[in-house]
Amino acid sequence: MSNNEKGFDRREFLKGTAAVAGATAVGTLAPFGLAQAQSGKIKIGLMLPYTGTFAALGVAITNGFKLAVEERGGKLGGREIEYIVVDDESNPAKAPENANKLVQRDKVDVVIGTVHSGVAMGMAKVLKESGTLWINPNAGAGAVTGPLCAPNIFRTSFSNWQTTYALGKVLKAKGHKNAVFITWKYAAGEEMMQGFKEGFEKEGGKLIKELYTPFPQVEFQALLTEIASIKPDAVVAFFAGGGAAKFLKDYQAAGLKGKIPLYGSGFLTDGVLEAVGDAGEGVETTLHYADSLNTKKDNAFRLAYAKTYKLQPDVYAVQGYDAGQLLAAGLDAVKGNIGDKAAMIKAMEGAKIDSPRGTWTLSKAHNPVQDMYLRKVVGKQNLVQGVAWKALADPARGCKA
Ligand code: BEZ
Repeated sequence: MSNNEKGFDRREFLKGTAAVAGATAVGTLAPFGLAQAQSGKIKIGLMLPYTGTFAALGVAITNGFKLAVEERGGKLGGREIEYIVVDDESNPAKAPENANKLVQRDKVDVVIGTVHSGVAMGMAKVLKESGTLWINPNAGAGAVTGPLCAPNIFRTSFSNWQTTYALGKVLKAKGHKNAVFITWKYAAGEEMMQGFKEGFEKEGGKLIKELYTPFPQVEFQALLTEIASIKPDAVVAFFAGGGAAKFLKDYQAAGLKGKIPLYGSGFLTDGVLEAVGDAGEGVETTLHYADSLNTKKDNAFRLAYAKTYKLQPDVYAVQGYDAGQLLAAGLDAVKGNIGDKAAMIKAMEGAKIDSPRGTWTLSKAHNPVQDMYLRKVVGKQNLVQGVAWKALADPARGCKA
């Protein structure tokens, strides 16, 4: 029976890790992977997409993570870092094998990944069973910090639900009574649709149609024709990366822009505005980051990122950077002794992350509790309009933590 089936208990895990710390000398499996516990380099597995529609997201996360490490002199907890990089291709079918390779063959201390919710689900079983420390810097699958929550599993991004729940209030304030949701047919799209539906119906709104296309297809024409015939008050969308850029352009080309207001989780417009001309102009979204926060921390981050990579950062870069910051908080607390799991987990759980997005903390399920901004595309920026929801916590349904 797996830990999950038994109803994984945090205290039991911590007791177990203490016992195993003594047992590793005689070859028993160590819950934080099999790597050297106290000396040498910390081995970090970067399991992210570097090809396909989410490739730019994987690169931004990697850049952000490495920037956090470089700001600490290339070390975390006083130890140098070795990276082992896997392109997961946003392919859920390959996820268990890729995660297993990092744990069993490469013996990494920590896994940082991934972007796609389906891939994250494939990683979850492997990493929960091996006990390897896992920091998820994007994929919003609710189950990761829901039924599958575990002491060794952390997320520095969002749950899918969090990114659309606040949109209900936004649409209500604009006077929209009904809406159509359009997205890819996989966990992230379905969960963002559910989050929106819940928030909108609480406000008295009605979701009148859910429209899906398989991931990662970007043939939107038939669905856009359907939207034109339904004539809803508003359209809400989740697409990201290359798919988001194509959707924005197709929405404009179909003559819907300016006729039916378009909203979305902020992935629709983050990291794509350079590629879409004026197709994004005026689109309003909710997300835990915006281009114009103008805080000391965000300004310093944006400057350092632009100098290092000759690129503007986006939400994915921030999530990668915060994965580095969270890992640093844990490793600093144990002075690099990654074998001291209980102390490291405790330090990570209690960390207050001074993030470019604003300070955030972790819920009991290890998901960020964070402000959700309302943003509007003006030129090439997602400009902040205000806070749509203060300190929004994912409900973590099914987590026994
Ligand atoms: C996801 O699959 O969880 C996801 C992918 C891209 C952006 C946001 C969420």
